[in-house]
Amino acid sequence: MVWEDGKQISKNAFCVDLPKELLKELRDYADQMGITDMYRRLLVADGQPLLPGTEYKKDFQGYNWMVQRPKSHWASNMHWTSPADETAHDDYLRVLSAGGFDEVLEKVGAYFNLEGLSAYHLSFIGVSHCEKGFIHADVNDSGRKAFNMIIPLILQEDEGPELEILSDDETLTQYYKYKYNVASMVGDNALHATASCDYQTQSSKPTTTTTTTTTPTTIKNGGETIMRMAATVYIGDITPENVNHLLMSLTQAYPPVGNAQHLLDRAGSHWSKSNPSKKLPVPI
Ligand SMILES: [Fe+2]
Repeated sequence: MVWEDGKQISKNAFCVDLPKELLKELRDYADQMGITDMYRRLLVADGQPLLPGTEYKKDFQGYNWMVQRPKSHWASNMHWTSPADETAHDDYLRVLSAGGFDEVLEKVGAYFNLEGLSAYHLSFIGVSHCEKGFIHADVNDSGRKAFNMIIPLILQEDEGPELEILSDDETLTQYYKYKYNVASMVGDNALHATASCDYQTQSSKPTTTTTTTTTPTTIKNGGETIMRMAATVYIGDITPENVNHLLMSLTQAYPPVGNAQHLLDRAGSHWSKSNPSKKLPVPI
């Protein structure tokens, strides 16, 4: 991830070009499962968001998922929903396969000279309002072998940048604007936050013809739910050295909390430097 001045401030923050078919596959999946509609209900201005720090299991089309809202220090109405067991996880993996994600694994594996890769944790995230994002890293101390990829599915393209990136020395902040068909990808200790946003209300802005007139605060588009939604895919070259670090970063139901052997058994299952038959499960 390089800024206008040509500088890179976070050595483990990247942009990754995606196959064009991935966006449609993931959008259609989120729509068919009922996930997009769920987010519209959770994120509408007068809707019913979860209380911060709560979660519940939810059935989407016969698959077990978990819906969560992080604690209040996130200062946003972002929610996460992720497969709650391996059956639901594998169903999501098949959609990534249909969208051409195998070639993304190949590119990342080759770029970082990894031995193998697994897509080990998946979710959809949605947000419509954020006061001030909580600075955090998604992955720590993997040996530059694991990353969280954020794949934009619904963007508000006229709004400001969505992702705040803090420099590795924590002295500089840059703002990244999401684009369709490009993932942002953060790895070891890459500090970042959701940038401030408010898609539900029109902030007061000066008109172009006078210097002082402002428009009153109004609900945008007559109150239609305006939100941002993305898929997130954690990918990693899982090893005995990094598996516990990878598990510590996760708060969802799958992969099973604290179960290192479960992840190790699936190491290199979706891409392998030495075995071209390792691929994502194909659609049924
Ligand atoms: Fe994050």
